[in-house]
Amino acid sequence: MKGYFISFEGGEGCGKSTQIKRLKEYVSSLKNADNFVFAREPGGTPLTDELRRLILDYEVDSPLPMTELLLLCASRVENVQKRILPALSQGKVVIADRFYDSTIAYQCSARNIMPVEDLLALTKKIIGDVKPDLTFYFKLSPEEAFARKNKMEEKLDRIESEGLEFHKKVQAGYDYISKIESDRFYCIDATKSIDEIFNEIIKVLNEKIPQFLN
Ligand code: TMP
Repeated sequence: MKGYFISFEGGEGCGKSTQIKRLKEYVSSLKNADNFVFAREPGGTPLTDELRRLILDYEVDSPLPMTELLLLCASRVENVQKRILPALSQGKVVIADRFYDSTIAYQCSARNIMPVEDLLALTKKIIGDVKPDLTFYFKLSPEEAFARKNKMEEKLDRIESEGLEFHKKVQAGYDYISKIESDRFYCIDATKSIDEIFNEIIKVLNEKIPQFLN
């Protein structure tokens, strides 16, 4: 039995982490709770948590754009080989907070480091054909995201601190990949309330993976 791979994607302040937290609580009450594995990028293993710190919060030096891209890819290889593939091959549901669509949006589109097609070819080289079966794309205008961000009290990391123009390009990148790989994308209007969005996610999961939701 093959598992099912779900990713959550979106720009800063879109609310995806809040929904993943709620989903974690929800699945922990299911009989099938052990069949769910949560992952995030960058990070999730001891080595990739260190990479996350270097990519986002290392104050001594900041990586060159290509170094940033390669560190993110290194984190992805670790995650795929050590967590995602083993879980999928055991027939589990993997829920990832970000995957390669983030690299397309942030590094290809916003930073213009390499064309999307080159990133897709590199991704295939390093992780093979692993891709989400379903991607929830939380869509929020960069202006609205900025308004939300200004209200937050948390310290922003290096990438979150980029300006409005950068985040407009992030959204353009997401819009692009959501069109070319449209069969796996489910677009969520991130201006809706937390409850509305959560109910929508559960409804979609009930349609796609009812067998896991007992
Ligand atoms: P998070 O706080 O939503 O987990 O995201 C971490 C930051 O890393 C966020 O600003 C987006 C950025 N990021 C990229 O730029 N490229 C990537 O491939 C990934 C996975 C994250």
